[in-house]
Amino acid sequence: MRGCSFTAPPRDWRRLPPQPRSPRQAALPPAPPGAGWAPGPRGSRLCPRPRRESGGAARAALWRPHGLCSAGDLWQHQFQSLDSKSLHTPLTALQQEQIQQLSHKRLQRMPVQYVLGEWDFQDLTLKMRPPVFIPRPETEDLVSLVVEEEFQKCENSALCFPVPVPHPVILEIGCGSGAIALSLLRKLPQSRVIAMDKEEAAVDLTRENAHRLQLQERIHIIHQDVSHSCAKQLLLWGPIDVIVSNPPYVFHEDMASLDAEILRYEDLDALDGGDDGMRVIKTILALAPSLLKVSGSVFLEVDPRHPDMVEHWLQAQPDLLLTLRAVHEDFCGKPRFLHIQKQSSWQLCET
Ligand SMILES: C[S@@+](CC[C@H](N)C(=O)[O-])C[C@H]1O[C@@H](n2cnc3c(N)ncnc32)[C@H](O)[C@@H]1O
Repeated sequence: MRGCSFTAPPRDWRRLPPQPRSPRQAALPPAPPGAGWAPGPRGSRLCPRPRRESGGAARAALWRPHGLCSAGDLWQHQFQSLDSKSLHTPLTALQQEQIQQLSHKRLQRMPVQYVLGEWDFQDLTLKMRPPVFIPRPETEDLVSLVVEEEFQKCENSALCFPVPVPHPVILEIGCGSGAIALSLLRKLPQSRVIAMDKEEAAVDLTRENAHRLQLQERIHIIHQDVSHSCAKQLLLWGPIDVIVSNPPYVFHEDMASLDAEILRYEDLDALDGGDDGMRVIKTILALAPSLLKVSGSVFLEVDPRHPDMVEHWLQAQPDLLLTLRAVHEDFCGKPRFLHIQKQSSWQLCET
C-alpha cells in the first residue's frame, strides 16, 4: 500500500465478533432471544430495528421486536453508571420520576433511539432527535462499500508510479443525523465530505454530531434541497470522487404500512420516494455527471425493486454517461445497494 496513509482492514473485517466497547455498553444485559434484527416485509426501512453486532447488540436488549422496551431495560440504560452496590439501593423519588418519563415516551410508541437520545452506527455513538431519520443497520454496509472502493483505488494506484496520495472528496446527499458522512470521515482519515440535507433539523444534528466526534474540520454541511442544487455550489472542493446517498426510497403506496413508531415520530419526507420510490434517486443521478470526476462513483441504498428500474432508467438516459456497475445485497440477502459509475475517458472516446 505504498503512498497510502491509511491501513487496509483485515480481509474479513466485517465479520469480527462483537466486542463490548465501553463499560457502559458491557453493563447492558445480553439481548433476549428474538430481540435482534427482524426485517419488515420489504426490508428494514419499514421497521427500524437495532443492529445485530457490537454496541448495537447490547442495545438490542432495549428493543422488543413487536412490543415495548420494558421499564427495567430503560432503567438499566439510564442508570448503568451506578456500580453494582448501588443497584441494590432503592430508587430515589427523582430516579423513579425519570423512569416514569422514559417509560411513558416508549408507551407512546416513541422509538427507543429517540427515548435514549443516542444510538450506535458502526463505531460511532450519534445523538438522535426526532424527527431526524434514525440510521438503519443495513446502511452500515453502504458505508463499507464506499470504504472498500477507496481501499481498492488506493491499492490500484500503488501499482503505478509516482503514487498519488488519495484525498477523496465525497458528497453525501441526505445526511440525516450524519451517520454515513461521519463514519466515512472516521474510516478514511484523508477524505473530506460535503454533507447536504434539505431539512434544517438534519443539518443541525449532523453539525452537532460532527463536533461531538471532533470531525468538524473535514466536513462541509449544506442546508439545501438536491433538486434545487447547482453543481457550482457543490464543487467547492473540486470535482467529486464519490457520491453516496441513502435517499427516501419507499414507494408512496407503502408509506401507510410503516410502523407506528415511524409514522408518529420520523420525518416522512425522509422515507417517501414518490410513486415509484425514485423521485430523489433520479434527481441525484441527473446531477451526478456534472459533479463527478471521470470514473467517479455513485453508491445508493435502494428498495429491492429498484435495481432493475434504475438500470432501465439509465439505459433510457445515455446522455448521463452513467453505468450500473454492481448490485450488492444487504445482510438479509436483498438487492439493496447500487454502484453506478461515470464512464471513463476511454469509454467516452468509444461512444
Ligand atoms: C433515508 S434518510 C437518510 C439519512 C441518513 N443518511 C441515514 O442513512 O441515516 C433521507 C434523508 O434525505 C433527506 N432528503 C430528502 N429529500 C431530499 C432532497 N430533495 N434534498 C436533500 N435532502 C433530502 C431527508 O431530509 C433525510 O434526512
